[in-house]
Amino acid sequence: MNTLEAKQIFKAYKNEHDEEEIKVLNGITLTVQKGESIAIMGPSGSGKTTLLNILSGMDQPTSGEVIIGEQAISNLKADASAEFRRKQLGFVFQDFNLLESLTVKENIMLPMILEKKSNLYMEARVDELASLFDIKAILNKYPYHISGGQQQRTAVSRALVNNPQILFADEPTGNLDSKSSAVIMEYFDHIVTKLHTTILLVTHDVFAASYCEKVYFINDGTIHSFISKNGGSKEAFLNVIMENLAQLGRV
Ligand SMILES: Nc1ncnc2c1ncn2[C@@H]1O[C@H](COP(=O)(O)OP(=O)(O)OP(=O)(O)O)[C@@H](O)[C@H]1O
Ligand SMILES: [Mg+2]
Repeated sequence: MNTLEAKQIFKAYKNEHDEEEIKVLNGITLTVQKGESIAIMGPSGSGKTTLLNILSGMDQPTSGEVIIGEQAISNLKADASAEFRRKQLGFVFQDFNLLESLTVKENIMLPMILEKKSNLYMEARVDELASLFDIKAILNKYPYHISGGQQQRTAVSRALVNNPQILFADEPTGNLDSKSSAVIMEYFDHIVTKLHTTILLVTHDVFAASYCEKVYFINDGTIHSFISKNGGSKEAFLNVIMENLAQLGRV
């Protein structure tokens, strides 16, 4: 079953003087199935973030269609789109995006508060996720008192709290050292294999990408190539990823 289907996605920006169009995405078609983990890689400026933002309904394509589950999201009005994202999708960013004035626990609770969940439910859900991501001991701390790795684990907990259909992550290991990156990717691995969460990840990090089942390589706004792990090892997949990146020339 397709969880996400993107058909012929084009995105162009007008420059300041409306003279010339900048074509960022040039006809991207892809599908994501339930429980898949997919990485999107490609050179800086190739359109990865633009694509992720369109696939997740944060941005609208110039033309083309994105369907998540049964919902065509590309032409939802702003309010409906925000509500859909809040209820159905999870987001993780490079810079964690935690609210500094809230504790770890309050940050994780926030999406449930917006959904008016009961206190009992929220306490149980925080406890469950905090145990899973090993952040129980820091639930009452503020983001500036915890490490980058702990902040990202908090952000992933927050992203998962409403059981999203898809977890979108833009460079989730970009601000982490290699040890914390590995920890985050092990957790992603766990939530894909054990919780059957669907993950769509944009990354420059070959090690992070090697954890995924499939990798799309984007260049100049088109899909340059596509590879699948097909049951092979992470180590073997990492080598194939590097070969594909070398073909693209620059990362
Ligand atoms: N709002 C905008 N207006 C005009 N051009 C934009 C806008 N947003 C992105 N672009 C352009 O679209 C292109 C792709 O940007 P995007 O952020 O998607 O790249 P990326 O692949 O995520 O790069 P990076 O790896 O550096 O994060 C760039 O040339 C960028 O300048
Ligand atoms: Mg980007």
